[in-house]
Amino acid sequence: MTDTAHHCDERIRSIRPRDRSTVNRLGTSLFQPYGHYGSALDVWLRQPGVKGYVSEIEGIRTTGFVLVATRLAQLPAGHSYILGIGVEADRQGLGLGRRLLATAIDDLEQEALSLQLSRLQLNVAEDNERALRLFRSLGFCQVRGATVAYGGGQRGITMERPLGPREPHGHVLNQPGTDPDLLH
Ligand SMILES: CC(C)(COP(=O)(O)OP(=O)(O)OC[C@H]1O[C@@H](n2cnc3c(N)ncnc32)[C@H](O)[C@@H]1OP(=O)(O)O)[C@@H](O)C(=O)NCCC(=O)NCCS
Repeated sequence: MTDTAHHCDERIRSIRPRDRSTVNRLGTSLFQPYGHYGSALDVWLRQPGVKGYVSEIEGIRTTGFVLVATRLAQLPAGHSYILGIGVEADRQGLGLGRRLLATAIDDLEQEALSLQLSRLQLNVAEDNERALRLFRSLGFCQVRGATVAYGGGQRGITMERPLGPREPHGHVLNQPGTDPDLLH
């Protein structure tokens, strides 16, 4: 494997319990500008309503992850939440973040009906241009008036996209009440 390896070298699969410490280490280091995460990712991954996906090369090197909560005490009814997404620094910009997030969204779309999920939300620092572009391009819009403060001093915004049964051409069916609150 070389540093010029293409994104196709990565395989994406569900996170297993043995990935927890690797994901925690990678996430803690990637999120370091936004505060001290400690073992937060590891703790989240032990919650029953949390799952995720990793990208890995040749089954040995974990290069990225995305964590999704579908039921946590703090989540309002019908909401799911991206707890974190990160790609190793030297693998960024190759399309991996997009593949990881698209995988998570596809799986949530499949489960939306049975889990009664209608929205997927996340928080992101308003100066995180790369992440903002990724989220916008996968259908997330800013939730009006919702802001968060990161430990690193950044201001964050909340973004969301609808979830639900889709028509073949990709439009979400029967999702009332999402658009008025969103900034496009
Ligand atoms: C944000 C992050 C997950 C994106 O993953 P990635 O693999 O680097 O992103 P991708 O290569 O899939 O690119 C996705 C989109 O990001 C944008 N992007 C990619 N590289 C970019 C760059 N150098 N500058 C600006 N935007 C960029 C583009 O819109 C791109 O879509 P496109 O390929 O259609 O143009 C990754 O950069 C990361 O781990 N950052 C540090 C941790 C972090 O900030 N996580 C998000 C917290 S909410």
